[in-house]
Amino acid sequence: MGSVNNASLPVTGAASFSPILRPRRIRRTSAIREMVQETRLTAADLIAPLFVKEGDGAPEPVGSMPGVCRLSLDALVAECRELVALGIHGIALFPVTPPALKNPRGSEALNPECLVLRAVRALKAAVPQLMIFTDIALDPYTNHGHDGVLTPTGDDVDNDATVAILAEMAVLHAAAGTDFVAPSDMMDGRVAALRSALDGAAYPHVGILAYSAKFASAYYGPFREAVGSAAAAGTSLLDKRTYQLNPANRREAIADALLDEAEGADLLMVKPAGPYLDILRELRDASSLPLAAYQVSGEYAQIHAAAERGWLDLRKTRDESLLAIRRAGADLILTYFAKSFAADLRRG
Ligand code: PBG
Repeated sequence: MGSVNNASLPVTGAASFSPILRPRRIRRTSAIREMVQETRLTAADLIAPLFVKEGDGAPEPVGSMPGVCRLSLDALVAECRELVALGIHGIALFPVTPPALKNPRGSEALNPECLVLRAVRALKAAVPQLMIFTDIALDPYTNHGHDGVLTPTGDDVDNDATVAILAEMAVLHAAAGTDFVAPSDMMDGRVAALRSALDGAAYPHVGILAYSAKFASAYYGPFREAVGSAAAAGTSLLDKRTYQLNPANRREAIADALLDEAEGADLLMVKPAGPYLDILRELRDASSLPLAAYQVSGEYAQIHAAAERGWLDLRKTRDESLLAIRRAGADLILTYFAKSFAADLRRG
C-alpha cells in the first residue's frame, strides 16, 4: 500500500491541530503485525483426541469427521509417534467398545483388560513422554449411551452410584499408566471422589483434567457416531440435560467449574469451545488453574463441511477458530485439527 500524504489531510487551523489517530500504523507490514501479535498458538498448546478400536484392521474413517479414523492399537501407537515428532505433547483417548460388550451398568469399564487400558499400557511402553488423558465416563460402555448408570426407575442417571464406579475406573486407569484422568460425566462430587480414590491407591501424581463446564450440546453428534454411543442409544441427540449444563447458563457454569477447582482438579475445561468463548474468558478471570477448551466434533465437522463445498478455506478457518479459543483464555485446546495444524506449522 502506498503511504498516505499527511499534507493532503484537512487542517482546521494551526492552533487547533489534531492529527487523525492511525491504528493502522501497526498493521502496515507483516513484520510489524507479527511483532505486535498478542496471541500465538504452538503444537505444545494442543491435545489430540484419538479413537481406538479392537482388532488389527485398517483405520476406519468416521463419516462425519473427515480425516479422523478409529485406529487399531498398532495404528494408534504409530499415530502417537508421529504426533510426538510434530511437537504435540498430549492425547485424549476414547475407546470404541464393541456393542456385544455394552450393558446397562457399563461393566466393561471396570474390566482390567478392556481396550482403553491395553491402549494406555501399549502407549506408555512405546512413547513414554507423551501425556495421556483418559476419559472417565460410562458412555462408551453403556447400552443406553448415558455417562452413568440409571436409577431404578430408569428415568435419570444415578449420581452417587455412578461416582463410585468412576472412582474405581480412575484407579484402573492410573494403574495402567495414564497421566491424567478426565472425568467428562458431569456427576456431582466426582472430582473429590476421584482425587481421594487415586490418593488412597497410591497414585497421588496422577492428575485430574475436569470437564468442568460441559454443556448439553448438539455439537457432540459426530463424536457419538465415532464411539458408537449414538447407535447404542438409538439417537445422536441423546438427552443429557439432567447432568450436562444448560447452554443458556453462564453463572451456573462458572459456579460448577469453581467446585471442581475446590475439589482438587488440576486443570479445568470448557466444552464445546467456539460457541462458549464467553464462558472461557470468564473462567479465565475466575480461576488461576490452567484452562483447557475442547473444540468438539461438531465444530470440526462444520468447518470441514463448509470447506468441502468451497464455502470456507479449510486451513484459514481452522487456524482462526483455534486462535480465537486461545485468545479467549484457553491454555490447552483439545482439537481434531491438532495433527494437521502442527504439520502445517512445521512446513510453514
Ligand atoms: C462423553 C463425551 C462426549 C464427548 C467427549 N466425551 C459426548 C457426550 O457427552 O455425549 C464429545 C466430544 C466431541 O463431540 O468431540 N463422556
